[in-house]
This record gives sequence, structure tokens and C-alpha cells, in this order.
Amino acid sequence: MRDVTLLAIFEHHIAQKYLNRSGLAHAIAVAYHAYHLAKKHKVDVDIAAKAGLLHDIGHFTWYKNGKWDYDLYKKNDIHAIKGAERAHKLLIRLGENPVRAKEIALAILFHTDSFLPTNDIERTALQQVVKWADEKDEEKGGLHHYRKIDEDRARQSISRLDQWIDAELGYSKKIVDQ
Ligand SMILES: [Fe+2]
Repeated sequence: MRDVTLLAIFEHHIAQKYLNRSGLAHAIAVAYHAYHLAKKHKVDVDIAAKAGLLHDIGHFTWYKNGKWDYDLYKKNDIHAIKGAERAHKLLIRLGENPVRAKEIALAILFHTDSFLPTNDIERTALQQVVKWADEKDEEKGGLHHYRKIDEDRARQSISRLDQWIDAELGYSKKIVDQ
């Protein structure tokens, strides 16, 4: 068994708060993309899916006069840094293996170039997978952050992805629909 499942992460109140802030539907979609890309590129599907689910939990709400202020966000955003730190703390609290928690945190840190002075960093295959997974789900004008999913469907999607990961890692013999 894995130390921590996606469902255990999802159910934690800290994850609930920040996943809902930056868009739960987007987070789940990126976790799925990350899983498929990880399989294709032969990197760890569990780490990729967890980084995908948590990649945007560092977002701050840059509101001015009740409206999202894109300029303020562009100028001040450090969501990758904050997300990496938040995810790491959450994962360690939930009992994640520290080596894996670090890998997940680094994949979140490097999922975007937005805070970097240059865009020439060299990513590991896993870090690249998480970046691609995010880009696959992006919509113009940041609309991907506003897509909705209801709680039950979210829980079902996350549980199904947990089953796929377990099957992929050989923890479950059950035939699951992929
Ligand atoms: Fe994202």
C-alpha cells in the first residue's frame, strides 16, 4: 500500500481550503493528465498524480475592489513556491515518505516558469510531466480555475485514480477500467 492516497489528501481540511480556492476541477484534471503522461514517460505515477492534484494550492486571491486583479497577480505571484511548501507540509503531516514528499514539492515548485527570472531551467522527466499536465488543462483567461465539479463526483474521480495508481504499482490485482 502507498503511505498516502489521493483521497486522504483530498479529505484533509487544508487541501479542501486551497483546492477549492484555485479550482478543484482543474486540480483533478491535471492529476489525471499527470498520471497518463507519467505512464507514457515511465516516471512514478503516484508522485506525478499527487503533484498534479496539489500543483496550484499556493495561489493567493489577488482581489481589488471585489474583482480579480490580473496585474497584481502577474507582479506578485509566487504560487509555485507557496504551493510547494504547503504541499510538503501537508504530505508530511499525512505520513508521506519524506523522499517522495520532496519530489512532489519540487515538481510543484517547477510546474511553471512564472516566478523565474529566466525560462531556461532543466527539469527532470517527472517535473516536465507535471508542467505538461497543467498546460494540457489550461484555458484562455485562466478560466480553468473556475470550472466546477460537485463534491461527490470529485471524490469518485479521485478514488478511481487511486485505484489506477494502485493497479499500476502492483498493489491491487483488481481489473480496473482504464
Ligand atoms: Fe494549474
